[in-house]
Amino acid sequence: MEKQNLILAFESSCDETSVAVIRNGHEILSNVIATQINSHKRFGGVVPEVASRHHIEQITICIESALQEADVTYEDLDAVAVTYGPGLVGALLVGVNAAKTVAYAHHLPLIPVNHMAGHIYAARFVKPFEFPMMALLVSGGHTELVYMQADGQFEIIGETRDDAAGEAYDKIGRVLGVPYPAGKVIDEMAHQGQDTFNFPRAMIDEDNYDFSFSGLKSAFINTVHHADQIGETLDHNNLAASFQASVVDVLTSKTLRVLKQYPVKQLVLAGGVAANHGLRERLQEVLPQEFPEMELIMAPLKLCGDNGAMIGAAGYVQYQHQQFGDAALNADPSLEFDWMPGMLK
Ligand code: KG4
Ligand code: ZN
Repeated sequence: MEKQNLILAFESSCDETSVAVIRNGHEILSNVIATQINSHKRFGGVVPEVASRHHIEQITICIESALQEADVTYEDLDAVAVTYGPGLVGALLVGVNAAKTVAYAHHLPLIPVNHMAGHIYAARFVKPFEFPMMALLVSGGHTELVYMQADGQFEIIGETRDDAAGEAYDKIGRVLGVPYPAGKVIDEMAHQGQDTFNFPRAMIDEDNYDFSFSGLKSAFINTVHHADQIGETLDHNNLAASFQASVVDVLTSKTLRVLKQYPVKQLVLAGGVAANHGLRERLQEVLPQEFPEMELIMAPLKLCGDNGAMIGAAGYVQYQHQQFGDAALNADPSLEFDWMPGMLK
């Protein structure tokens, strides 16, 4: 029988407490996610102190449930993986300390994982990666095009110069009275409306791979405020559709541009905004037309947002390279997105 490498994986970088049990890096035995979104909604965003408190309340319950659902005990585990950055320091510390405690108590190696690497490896549950690979990583805090020659080798080829795509969704959502996080609802509204406002597509024709969403956000907010001032009522679904059309146009055209310069075998779509139906549909439509040989791997909808399973999948790569942390591991809120440790440059 194939050896079962079982990793207990922790994620607590923002507003989701999650613990998962992953087998051999690509099989989910359990993936327990306790979301705190309802507590943050009334504040219009994540309140760090509230987040830390919720993580503390939830973490041991999540560990118990993850082990129980996976039908394993601590004795069956081979390693413990944990997000140690980037994210909210107080939130990260809860996961890091829980992981260190389990690792110490049960004599297990500890694997420190970068949250962004985790998002990309959410796509590993769909199928094995083939390199070279490009990832379009779109989340609440990041919008990046990441080139990978091999597992764990991340090169940022393009990124946002201001707001992340998810952040822009959340900010324009607030103007329309949509509670935080607004992405999913704006996506649904966009499907009911038409692109009638023709908002700017920033940097779309520029010969680089960077993004900018703050101009779009301002154009959107100005349009809504101006209408308010003159007592005009705008169709919210059309506003959402117009905003989404701009975001999807820019993300898709920059991705196609980078793929011309960097021929790859696979394109991975990952991060919270990868759940966007408009973006998924557009990539599924244009990629086979432009690059018939290239494979599109989209992170499963359930694994686009923050979760422990993706941390276990990324952690498994480090596990194979025996790259472990120790009891001195600390949370690093502004952790850079670099190559995984142990990958020689
Ligand atoms: O990756 P994630 O869970 O957290 C970070 O690491 O940042 O991403 C959360 C972001 C939020 O901004 C949320 O509004 C956005 O993902 N999001 C979406 C959709 N679902 C979630 N944005 C657009 N369309 C969606 N369907
Ligand atoms: Zn995330």
